[in-house]
Amino acid sequence: MESPCRVLVAVLGTLAIIHLVQAQGQQAGFISLDCGLPANELSPYDEPTTGLRFLSDEKFIQSGKSGRIQPNTEGYLKPYETLRYFPDGIRNCYNLNVEKGMTHLIRAYFIYGNYDGLDIKPKFDLYLGPNPWTTIDLQTQVNGTRAEILHIPISNSLQVCLVKTGTTSPLITTLEIRPMGNDTYITKSGSLNLFFRVYLSKSDGYLRYRNDVYDRVWTSFSRNEWTHISTTLEVSNSNKYFPPKEALKTAATPTNSSAPLTMEWSSSNVDNQYYLYGHFAEIQELQTNDTREFNMIWNGQVISGPLIPPKFNIYTIFSLSPSTCVGGKCSFQLRRTNRSTLPPLLNAFEVYTVIQFPQIETNENDVVAVRDIKTTYEISRNSWQGDPCVPRQFMWDGLNCSNTDTSTPRITYLNLSSSGLTGSIAAAIQNLTQLEKLDLSNNNLTGEVPEFLGNIKSLVFINISWNNLNGSIPQALRRKGLELFPQGNPRLCLSGSCLPSKRKQFPVAIVASVASVASIIIAVLVLIFVFRKKKPSTVGGNLQENISPAVNVTYPNSPEPSIQTNKRRFTYSEVTDMTKNFQRVVGEGGFGIVYHGTLNGNAQVAVKVLSQSSTQGYKQFKAEVDLLMRVHHTNLVSLVGYCGEGDHLALIYEFVPNGNLRQHLSGKRGRSNINWGIRLRIAVEAALGLEYLHSGCIPPMIHRDVKTTNILLDEHYKAKLADFGLSRSFPVGGESHVSTVIAGTPGYLDPE
Ligand SMILES: *[C@@H]1O[C@H](CO)[C@@H](O)[C@H](O)[C@H]1NC(C)=O
Ligand SMILES: *[C@@H]1O[C@H](CO)[C@@H](O)[C@H](O)[C@H]1NC(C)=O
Ligand SMILES: *[C@@H]1O[C@H](CO)[C@@H](O)[C@H](O)[C@H]1NC(C)=O
Ligand SMILES: *[C@@H]1O[C@H](CO)[C@@H](O)[C@H](O)[C@H]1NC(C)=O
Ligand SMILES: *[C@@H]1O[C@H](CO)[C@@H](O)[C@H](O)[C@H]1NC(C)=O
Ligand SMILES: *[C@@H]1O[C@H](CO)[C@@H](O)[C@H](O)[C@H]1NC(C)=O
Ligand SMILES: *[C@@H]1O[C@H](CO)[C@@H](O)[C@H](O)[C@H]1NC(C)=O
Ligand SMILES: *[C@@H]1O[C@H](CO)[C@@H](O)[C@H](O)[C@H]1NC(C)=O
Ligand SMILES: *[C@@H]1O[C@H](CO)[C@@H](O)[C@H](O)[C@H]1NC(C)=O
Ligand SMILES: *[C@@H]1O[C@H](CO)[C@@H](O)[C@H](O)[C@H]1NC(C)=O
Ligand SMILES: *[C@@H]1O[C@H](CO)[C@@H](O)[C@H](O)[C@H]1NC(C)=O
Repeated sequence: MESPCRVLVAVLGTLAIIHLVQAQGQQAGFISLDCGLPANELSPYDEPTTGLRFLSDEKFIQSGKSGRIQPNTEGYLKPYETLRYFPDGIRNCYNLNVEKGMTHLIRAYFIYGNYDGLDIKPKFDLYLGPNPWTTIDLQTQVNGTRAEILHIPISNSLQVCLVKTGTTSPLITTLEIRPMGNDTYITKSGSLNLFFRVYLSKSDGYLRYRNDVYDRVWTSFSRNEWTHISTTLEVSNSNKYFPPKEALKTAATPTNSSAPLTMEWSSSNVDNQYYLYGHFAEIQELQTNDTREFNMIWNGQVISGPLIPPKFNIYTIFSLSPSTCVGGKCSFQLRRTNRSTLPPLLNAFEVYTVIQFPQIETNENDVVAVRDIKTTYEISRNSWQGDPCVPRQFMWDGLNCSNTDTSTPRITYLNLSSSGLTGSIAAAIQNLTQLEKLDLSNNNLTGEVPEFLGNIKSLVFINISWNNLNGSIPQALRRKGLELFPQGNPRLCLSGSCLPSKRKQFPVAIVASVASVASIIIAVLVLIFVFRKKKPSTVGGNLQENISPAVNVTYPNSPEPSIQTNKRRFTYSEVTDMTKNFQRVVGEGGFGIVYHGTLNGNAQVAVKVLSQSSTQGYKQFKAEVDLLMRVHHTNLVSLVGYCGEGDHLALIYEFVPNGNLRQHLSGKRGRSNINWGIRLRIAVEAALGLEYLHSGCIPPMIHRDVKTTNILLDEHYKAKLADFGLSRSFPVGGESHVSTVIAGTPGYLDPE
């Protein structure tokens, strides 16, 4: 009685509960794809025998080619005429929207039909998401085959993938998805692969939609030792399973009325675990003294009964847990009881085997985000199909994921370097919450660097170099442990000082290396003192007692950046106008004479006309200038523009009105008012400028010609370093320039 095989139980006999009004003609959620049908060729269309609306599969897959079976393949319905085949790529996937948690019937047909004229029938694997589902072997199933499963998707998107396993190209003819509710065909674990589904009738046919509201396909089945009975009267099919009424209107009974009714099958897979579903209805008018009563026997053991099928009404038995068959030989029998006057009867029968899908799919939010990124940038890489992370051998190019075997895979690495991306940095990236490395380098991305990148806590590496980004680097990205590579974005401001509202916010690199600031301060101080010893000043020599601290300096109304202009490149005639035909010389630097100029009628600039042309040609000059134009620091003279017209090379700088430090120390500017407090502050500021060149710039710059004439002072005696960077492309002091060679001004160089 308590046998472990007691798996079949009766349900819902005569209780006709709710009559689903929308059941008839319902097609909600049905997806019927006619694979390979060109979208412009009569899509969608209603298939006349079923009334199902088929459409082209083009919107559901991005790869594959369209094929058409040979016209002499007879008897096929229209959906079977075209197919999609996949000569390229290992894995090609359909992506379908479904409702998670709901049982779905998923069915695909595969008919070769010598579409390519080669008569080589393909063999390949079918996957459901990251998990292998079945092998499609058209070499043995020469007339075509189908795969069908009842499956509960765990996310709202479902992937059906064809995977090349040999040399032949996978193909698919139709793909059908039917949502079926969530309270039938329940398993202890795994999904249900269709083994067979029959209705017992001598007619040679099959039933599907509209006979079956869920579009299950029922094939007629008969054996010699059976007698078939049928009725023209109405039979109720109202229980959760809703088998077609047509399937219930016929039934089989054993011809030898004392013999059992037997269904037997064997499977090469002896480990198959079966779920059985039997549908019964009494369809004969019985005499009052007649009884039909039988027991159900599975592999020799009674599992359920006795059962009296309800009159013209459905009765379904189903497995609650899976069972196996010894040696792969299975037997299901209906045996009449002693008091039964009539033989047993069976109307319809379904058998499924359990299929396990152990591979966990990638985290759904990550999948949604990465697909969003794929759509945003219109990425059409062959590998970017199906589950992004699993199985590992089909992981998308440019991705890597966390442990894919034991827990839900998460995307940890996204590399879209050199992928021709345009537009801004995709917002969906913020939803890859476990991302560690992001490489968007070498694209054509525009717009600003978004704040949200800084909120991805796991990020340790971002390469956004060689794009066309602008704005400034958000503060959130200047955190410890995050490496950011922003070079090659000409319009991107790399230092915090670009933001007028956020003065005094230095890049992390500067704050980090207090030690190097200190050493540079000492160097600059030594410089100042050495200079003083050599040329004792007549002014400013009187020591003042109130040496003010060198830190916490503030500058009233100091404009930063002092000049803003959209234009960077100027023609030679504009330079001539700007300087009023080189009227006023304000200095002479290492590379040429500096003239006073006026930009846009008001802003003062210093125009340095380069006396010698760049050793590396105009292109290199431009590259260097682009680099220098991105350097913004309060203690560095900013470059605001340039002119490069033939031999006329000029650089346009912000104008620093108060001359250079040497003039003040030597008294050349008349009575100067630089006391020791100011001198110390100038030393600190010059050091901060140098520190920024060393650590805040990418690539780092070495000034190589630090001297008092290159330390300029503004109206508040704030120090600004000049002439940095140019030593990279210009010979210093007439020497041919190689970066390992000593450069600078004799007298300021370390004698060693
Ligand atoms: C394929 O179809 C042909 C013609 O209908 C038939 O003779 C043959 O037996 C079929 N083969 C298989 C394996 O079903
Ligand atoms: C089936 O779905 C309904 C509503 O969609 C839900 O309330 C119910 O819990 C689900 N049942 C199962 C077994 O998932
Ligand atoms: C009918 O079935 C019974 C029980 O299986 C068997 O003993 C009997 O020989 C069968 N009769 C015929 C004519 O086959
Ligand atoms: C049942 O009754 C009918 C007449 O009403 C009779 O012909 C038949 O033999 C009876 N069957 C049995 C098993 O008694
Ligand atoms: C049915 O009859 C057989 C022999 O005719 C007997 O062995 C068996 O015990 C009977 N079963 C019941 C439930 O009476
Ligand atoms: C991808 O991540 C795994 C750890 O999940 C690591 O072992 C592997 O080396 C990574 N592969 C690449 C190419 O970075
Ligand atoms: C991204 O991929 C490119 C080649 O496709 C490679 O050169 C680069 O190193 C990768 N970036 C990272 C961060 O691994
Ligand atoms: C991120 O995910 C959330 C929840 O899944 C969603 O509401 C939001 O729209 C997503 N954001 C972006 C930018 O895709
Ligand atoms: C960042 O990307 C650029 C361009 O692809 C590459 O040259 C550079 O080496 C990358 N930087 C790092 C640190 O990977
Ligand atoms: C980058 O984008 C800009 C503006 O959309 C366009 O003018 C330029 O040609 C693009 N460059 C490349 C290399 O695609
Ligand atoms: C960055 O460029 C975009 C257009 O590409 C523009 O709308 C935006 O205002 C710019 N932002 C800054 C800070 O310049």
